[in-house]
Amino acid sequence: MKKITLVPGDGIGPEIAKSVQDIFAAMKVPVEWELVDCGLAALEKTGELMPKAFVESLNRNHVALKGPTTTPVGGGHRSINVQMRQMFNLYANVRPIKNFPGLPSHFSGIDLIIVRENSEDLYKGIEYMISEGVAQGIKLITAEASERIGRHAFELAKKLKRKKVTVVHKANIMKFTDGLFLDSIRKVSADYPDIEFNDIIVDNCCMQLVMKPQQFDVIVTENLYGDILSDLCAGLIGGLGLASGANIGDKSAIFEAVHGSAPDIAGQNKANPTALILSAASMLDYIGMLDFGNKLRDAVGKTLANTEQRTGDLGGTLGTKEFTACIIQNLK
Ligand code: NAI
Repeated sequence: MKKITLVPGDGIGPEIAKSVQDIFAAMKVPVEWELVDCGLAALEKTGELMPKAFVESLNRNHVALKGPTTTPVGGGHRSINVQMRQMFNLYANVRPIKNFPGLPSHFSGIDLIIVRENSEDLYKGIEYMISEGVAQGIKLITAEASERIGRHAFELAKKLKRKKVTVVHKANIMKFTDGLFLDSIRKVSADYPDIEFNDIIVDNCCMQLVMKPQQFDVIVTENLYGDILSDLCAGLIGGLGLASGANIGDKSAIFEAVHGSAPDIAGQNKANPTALILSAASMLDYIGMLDFGNKLRDAVGKTLANTEQRTGDLGGTLGTKEFTACIIQNLK
């Protein structure tokens, strides 16, 4: 039995986490959940947004599935997600983008993965005022972090039997920073002769994504471009409601839906659990249970293909529990 840390989270978090637990039980996935609180739920009980119990649990289990957490406005609270990324050195943000047949979206046949470097670039936070009315920010790129994310992308491609890795950059203009990123990943690509490698400039990539997104397989890119491209790609498949994500480091990984805690529909059996379910499927791939991961994605696909089997946000009539029951039915 593999132990996994489960953070139900706030708002709709507990309802969609329960959906994943029920599906895993029906599939007889050999995992055992260790439940810990983070976010508002934890703040109320322990006075901390990210309590010691969570840190200890992740240090023990190394893998977590996290429901969305509410970051309280004001009070000087730092975002939990930023804290987690830094504390556990989760340098790779991985977002699979796949559209499901029958669901309304601008395109069909998209099946790509964005691997975003999560630790440096303009998001390093090195910025200041030089003088009145003049601000400066530093774009920090290192060969070490660039090679690390490049290797992560190629290893993921190898594991998931993907055919191509594309590095997205702007090295024609930023010759030192993006040039270093591109060169570092090109160097890594030499170790993977069976996987096609190419590069594309970020502005052209945006155009290609909205013209012919099916041409992309695995995309690896810097922090800022990755942030923008991953939301753009979520839009290509119908919005954030289906977007799953993961923050991965060398020792630990946290899998979570991209959406927030949706307080407006919390506790009403209205939440769509798909994004967290798909995050759980990526988690199964990560821990080497690829067959379970594929089976789960197939059941989600089969469920969403039927217009009668959708939640309200996708124009359907089902509640969280009824939708979960359909997925369980479609596992067979
Ligand atoms: P949100 O994603 O929670 O909600 C935006 C809209 O989408 C709402 O109308 C909501 O009802 C709907 N929605 C979101 N997820 C849904 C689902 N699974 N099924 C059906 N409808 C869904 O974004 P918002 O309102 O900006 O943030 C609410 C809280 O969530 C904030 O406290 C924010 O800090 C937190 N948040 C947490 C994240 C995380 O833990 N990873 C990520 C984003 C926001």
